[in-house]
Amino acid sequence: MSYFDERDFRLARGTVVGTINQLSVDERWEQETPAFVDAILRHLPSDARTILDYGCGIGRLSKGLLAKAPHCVLTGVDSSPTQIEHARSYIADGRFTGVLPHEIEGLFDFGFCIYVLQHVRAIDLRPTLWNIHSHLAPGAVFVHCSSVRRMSVRRDTGFFFDDRFLGVDLEPELERLFDPIGELFSDKEVEESLLLKRIMLGYNGTSDLDDNGDSGVVHRGKVYRKREVPLPYWKIPIP
Ligand SMILES: C[S@@+](CC[C@H](N)C(=O)[O-])C[C@H]1O[C@@H](n2cnc3c(N)ncnc32)[C@H](O)[C@@H]1O
Repeated sequence: MSYFDERDFRLARGTVVGTINQLSVDERWEQETPAFVDAILRHLPSDARTILDYGCGIGRLSKGLLAKAPHCVLTGVDSSPTQIEHARSYIADGRFTGVLPHEIEGLFDFGFCIYVLQHVRAIDLRPTLWNIHSHLAPGAVFVHCSSVRRMSVRRDTGFFFDDRFLGVDLEPELERLFDPIGELFSDKEVEESLLLKRIMLGYNGTSDLDDNGDSGVVHRGKVYRKREVPLPYWKIPIP
């Protein structure tokens, strides 16, 4: 069983937004969710109608997006059938479709992927990126945010594993397929919000380092545009 296969909705909330940098699950659920929804919406092109939420979890961002983008339909993708079930009942909106990664169909006008790729095993990273890329329309905008810290979910134990020693480097992998066009949050927004400082910059109110020499968990949030690439794409030199 994977860490994300929590059947109880309340406990499942803690798997998608765990306690970090002195922010509780409730604080993240209530304050971070609208902050991320608004930031993602700012990058949604006005003519986009179909949205891909890759790694939708229990649907907190999908629900917020659909509420504020009444003209859009959204497909939430997740590798955990349990999370998809939670998302379907939590969102309860006919404009939401929940599918497993191999079930995605069609091309989406816009995509986002929040706190997912940090959990994808090194060996699964390229197929996952390729799956996202191949289901976005030409030139589509793609919003991404992950922690710098690796928390890959081990297949054998179902729990997190820091696989940085394998040389995993997410941003160069993303840049083989997508051109960076901006930041999810501006420097000013981060500077003016304690919540965003904690989440994006890893402020945790302490200088203590953990066993890996890390302080707070830092996140990178960027906006990309899909680039057309020749196959096999991983032979393209990192820009
Ligand atoms: C930390 S949660 C974030 C959920 C959601 N994006 C949010 O911000 O609320 C990570 C989610 O990614 C999903 N996930 C992990 N690996 C995945 C993969 N390879 N493909 C699709 N989903 C994956 C997990 O099941 C989990 O629901």
